[in-house]
Amino acid sequence: MSNESDMNRRKFMEVGIYAITGAITVVSGAALTRFAVGPSFRKEKAKWIEVELDEAAESNPGFSRVVLEYEKKDGWLTASARTLAYVKRVKADEVIAISAACTHLGCIVTWDADKQIFKCPCHDGLYDPEGQVISGPPPGPLRRHKTRIEDGRILLATDTVPYGGDAHERA
Ligand code: FES
Repeated sequence: MSNESDMNRRKFMEVGIYAITGAITVVSGAALTRFAVGPSFRKEKAKWIEVELDEAAESNPGFSRVVLEYEKKDGWLTASARTLAYVKRVKADEVIAISAACTHLGCIVTWDADKQIFKCPCHDGLYDPEGQVISGPPPGPLRRHKTRIEDGRILLATDTVPYGGDAHERA
């Protein structure tokens, strides 16, 4: 009887130790996994970047070309990103900002104020002043940056920048 009771107690202790060890393994494994791969799933918040329009551009119906430079996090990596946009004031408190990255292969489009079109130098893609495709290979319109005006300052968001925010300039 005493032998059977010892066996039961031993079995109970064994099961308890396995259960505690298993729980510790699962909890620490989950924590390590989260630490190791968590950053690669984290979506970076938009950065708001202040831009200035030159006076000449504001006084005519054209666009100002602005450069956006910022630090971009991609998983574990932080790199400098640089991209371009065309910004136009449409009302005293409203601007539109069109990404300069062509939606075909990412070349930088130029604004032709005389013809009122955006032109891509790489494969002759043409866009209207709203960024809609007129002709050529671009599969869709130029992207828009979110914009806001705070105390007269013009801010553009980086989160709508296509191709990871690294449009390449060939113009
Ligand atoms: Fe612009 Fe091809 S990259 S048309």
